[in-house]
Amino acid sequence: MMILQYYLLASIIFASNLAQGQSIAALDWIQDRILCPLFEICHQEPAHLTCTTSNCVALKFIEFGIVPDVLQKAPPEMLKVQYGSKEVQLGNNMTVAETTYMPTVLSWTTEPNMLYTLMFSDPDAPSDQDASARSARHWLVTNIPGIDIARGNTIRPYFGPGPPAGSGFHRYNFLVYKQNGRITATDATDGYNGPDKVRTCQLIDEAFPNDPMRAARLKDNLHWSPERFAAKNGLGELVAGNFFRAQFDGI
Ligand SMILES: *[C@@H]1O[C@H](CO)[C@@H](O)[C@H](O)[C@H]1NC(C)=O
Repeated sequence: MMILQYYLLASIIFASNLAQGQSIAALDWIQDRILCPLFEICHQEPAHLTCTTSNCVALKFIEFGIVPDVLQKAPPEMLKVQYGSKEVQLGNNMTVAETTYMPTVLSWTTEPNMLYTLMFSDPDAPSDQDASARSARHWLVTNIPGIDIARGNTIRPYFGPGPPAGSGFHRYNFLVYKQNGRITATDATDGYNGPDKVRTCQLIDEAFPNDPMRAARLKDNLHWSPERFAAKNGLGELVAGNFFRAQFDGI
């Protein structure tokens, strides 16, 4: 936030002292020569997908509150995620229909012979106003050799977003952790973070009064914490992440 405030201040000072054309050139100069090298803030906004430096990824994770709601620290790299031709871009809006089936492209920088864990979850469960069941686990694959997700162990198959009516915007986030070796997690509730399973089940039933099948599938997947799962299973560093937002759209 401080960085942005300084940048804003610098912009105002320059803009007020220079004519229009000059001021834009001056701002570009400040950004390119001072801000970019100093803070690794890239020229364009992440929304244009040019933001790949770690500070830009971190800014978006903080701006949207994934840090601290889900993570203590943002990942250093933007995970590449595509649903067909649509890219996930650090907080862009996607529809339920666009994200019903698993992404067609998912990649991150790998090291040779390493295994990775992929997580996809929603901290805004049951809603952005009442996140008392944070997080809902939507996909979990461990022991992925490189980026070959099909060869990993799927603990929880992909389950697309289904934000309930009136529950606001949900922040669906993808995280990839490097593993220190093969792990044996198989328990569907490993990473469970919740105090009260009975209450959780009630909340789910209330959220999906007309869809008992969806409610049943969700019950084992709430109160789930990516960081808790990582700690419990001795995972290594968080290497990449990305997220989009989705809200109920009548489907
Ligand atoms: C997402 O949709 C909301 C509500 O329509 C809008 O306010 C917001 O600007 C959109 N975000 C992006 C990145 O387009």
